[in-house]
Amino acid sequence: MFTNTQQTSPELEALLDIAKDLTASLATKDRYARLLAAVRRLIPCDAACLLRLEGQELVPMAGYGLTSAALSRRYRRRDHPRLDVILRAAEPVRFRPDSPLADPFDGGLSAAPGPLHKVHACLGCALTEGGDVVGALTADSLEPGRFDALDQRMLITLGALAGAALRTTTLIEALEKRVDHRGRVAKELLQRAVQSSGGDILGVSAAVAALRREIALVAASDLFVLITGETGVGKELVAHHVHGGSPRRDEALIHVNCAALPLSIAESELFGHVAGAFTGATRDRAGKFEIADGGTLFLDE
Ligand SMILES: Nc1ncnc2c1ncn2[C@@H]1O[C@H](COP(=O)(O)OP(=O)(O)OP(=O)(O)O)[C@@H](O)[C@H]1O
Ligand SMILES: [Mg+2]
Repeated sequence: MFTNTQQTSPELEALLDIAKDLTASLATKDRYARLLAAVRRLIPCDAACLLRLEGQELVPMAGYGLTSAALSRRYRRRDHPRLDVILRAAEPVRFRPDSPLADPFDGGLSAAPGPLHKVHACLGCALTEGGDVVGALTADSLEPGRFDALDQRMLITLGALAGAALRTTTLIEALEKRVDHRGRVAKELLQRAVQSSGGDILGVSAAVAALRREIALVAASDLFVLITGETGVGKELVAHHVHGGSPRRDEALIHVNCAALPLSIAESELFGHVAGAFTGATRDRAGKFEIADGGTLFLDE
């Protein structure tokens, strides 16, 4: 533990910042930007790049000091032996200035664009998560020997943290995409359900006209509405119109047929349960009240 009297080194602070960001709720773009900012605090460089391994290609996720051309392309492992060496190495690799292997970012540095400019110091580490290589982190400098003094243990720690950060961000991205997709599917189904539910209220009598006015009146509110009437008079149709005329119309109308709900499961159907609440409750389940939140709950029968 660190006490107030102990000074933490700037390196340790940069590493701690990466670790803290792992559990913070951040947008994907911010996650990469903050990770790269921490990398720059740890490695004095002219360019840095965070790449995600997708099959046999490395794809830049974020970069510093690199031209947009360098950032917008994909790097095939077998076309870029330096990247391949980095991905295979168990520890961060520092390439000698006279390394015969071409640097993938030669000519791609904003500070020195063009094919004649060669990178002079280059380091990279494979990013792993749970034993799998998930990407790479590279740093380049136009000054030979710029990375010689860097502590190898610091680079190993940085690689481990950056690997976890990359994995976290990838997982969050995938989850966000799935949630977004499900949301759109649900909306689509909802719209179809609304379209196929009943239709217009027919009738021109004074009673039907009064009914329409009452529906419009209560639909605009969040009041509880009790719909009564003999069988077949159109209570369900009225419920659909109350929902359809309300500000909640884009959300769900959840229909619960209470007559078909045995008392023993009514509570969990309406209010939900958590996993393990009773035999057979293998996972958390939302109740109808929770599902209808923001929309309308229709307790029929
Ligand atoms: N005024 C009306 N305009 C158009 N359709 C109507 C009207 N009244 C009833 N209906 C139709 O009659 C049928 C029965 O209506 P609904 O199911 O809403 O009745 P209910 O009051 O819920 O009956 P129950 O008590 O048996 O459940 C539905 O197909 C409904 O669309
Ligand atoms: Mg009914």
